[in-house]
Amino acid sequence: MQEGLTNFGVIGISGRGSGMLAEMLSVEGVKVTAVCDKYEDRAQNGVKIVQEKAGYTPEMYLDYRELLKRDDISAILCCTTWITHSRVAIDAMRAGKHVAFEVGGAASIEECWQMVRVSEETGKFCMLLENCCYDRNELALFNMKRQGLFGEIIHAQGGYQHDLRDEITYGRETRHGRLFNFMNRNGDLYPTHQLGPIAKLLNINRGNRFVSLTSMASKARGLHEGILDNLPKGYDLSTFNFAQGDIVTTMIKCAHGETILLIHDCTLPRPYSRNYRVQGTKGIYMEDKDQIYIQDESHQHSWESFEPYRDKFEHPLWKQYAKDGIHEGGHGGMDFLVLSAFAKSAINDVKSPIDVYDTAAWMAITCLSEESIALGSMPVPVPDFTNGMWIDREPFRRGKYCLEEVCEEYFE
Ligand SMILES: NC(=O)c1ccc[n+]([C@@H]2O[C@H](COP(=O)([O-])OP(=O)(O)OC[C@H]3O[C@@H](n4cnc5c(N)ncnc54)[C@H](O)[C@@H]3O)[C@@H](O)[C@H]2O)c1
Repeated sequence: MQEGLTNFGVIGISGRGSGMLAEMLSVEGVKVTAVCDKYEDRAQNGVKIVQEKAGYTPEMYLDYRELLKRDDISAILCCTTWITHSRVAIDAMRAGKHVAFEVGGAASIEECWQMVRVSEETGKFCMLLENCCYDRNELALFNMKRQGLFGEIIHAQGGYQHDLRDEITYGRETRHGRLFNFMNRNGDLYPTHQLGPIAKLLNINRGNRFVSLTSMASKARGLHEGILDNLPKGYDLSTFNFAQGDIVTTMIKCAHGETILLIHDCTLPRPYSRNYRVQGTKGIYMEDKDQIYIQDESHQHSWESFEPYRDKFEHPLWKQYAKDGIHEGGHGGMDFLVLSAFAKSAINDVKSPIDVYDTAAWMAITCLSEESIALGSMPVPVPDFTNGMWIDREPFRRGKYCLEEVCEEYFE
């Protein structure tokens, strides 16, 4: 290993993986010595990205299990498909490597338990790369909540509201993973972009937990209409009956009485929004229209613009990031921050700020929402992946990237 650098392997190098690989090479202390995709052209592209950006040549693999045999690699970044993340993660931890993987939901509760057990047995961390936890607004809101501006949080909501009709429909032509999910499943397939920040706000798995949920799916029309409008007559999916409802709504109840509302909305025409809303006994924030109302600060019954609040309550991580000169990274900088959080944890061999209990609890919402919908919106229990420890956890690790507290002492 080159002095001062830690070796990483990257698995899954399609659109997202190639962007994350390039970004990972900008993180201090990181050396990517192995890249893998089951498609040779994509694996080769991974090699090229490293050569062009870092000036050295990583080993290329088509079978990730071969890559995992490498003793010199400390951690794995996995950007494969939703139904392969946990398998790669489990195999990586068993091979003695920390692992972080891209977002997506679980297909079964069993895969969540496997991740938890293997992480506990091996002592390796398993981190969902929920970049939205490091978004500038989300971190400012977290800071405001910790300073009591919203009072006691009563309700939070948000969702993944992103018109992905093209990406989904052309899944076979582009060898993309989403299409088969929308053909065969019906649930909140992508819950974590807003659930991650909400869970950290509500201390989930540390004094609070998700207890139960109920989900409802609308009918499915968006993909069908999009195909009729945009693809040649007779396209083979034009008569396909997609399983995934256009709008899936999920309500989660927490142990301390808070409610969470999640929306999955990816197959109808619309601009992007995660529609974040935080509401407490003293105020409310709403992402749509970027507005806020704080009882003792705002004019009675009048919305204010969020921007001045964001500036005033900027999270120190973002203050530092701006001072250092914002790196031209993906999604406005949050990709770089989540990768830095992962890389620093792996390099220092310490706990990751999003741990296996967070990963399991957030991902589990997908298969539980599928179950609830299949049962006519029956409430279903959410497993406690901490096995009771949520009421008395080991202390969290403080640091710049900590998502449990704002650790001012780590910033100049
Ligand atoms: N956090 C974000 O903002 C964000 C943005 C885009 C995508 N994503 C997530 O990133 C992931 C990847 O997205 P994508 O758009 O690149 O998907 P994709 O389907 O185009 O790519 C997945 C890649 O993984 C590879 N792969 C699958 N199984 C493999 C295996 N067993 N071994 C080796 N390679 C394997 C595939 O060949 C493919 O190249 C998804 O989970 C997606 O939801 C996250």
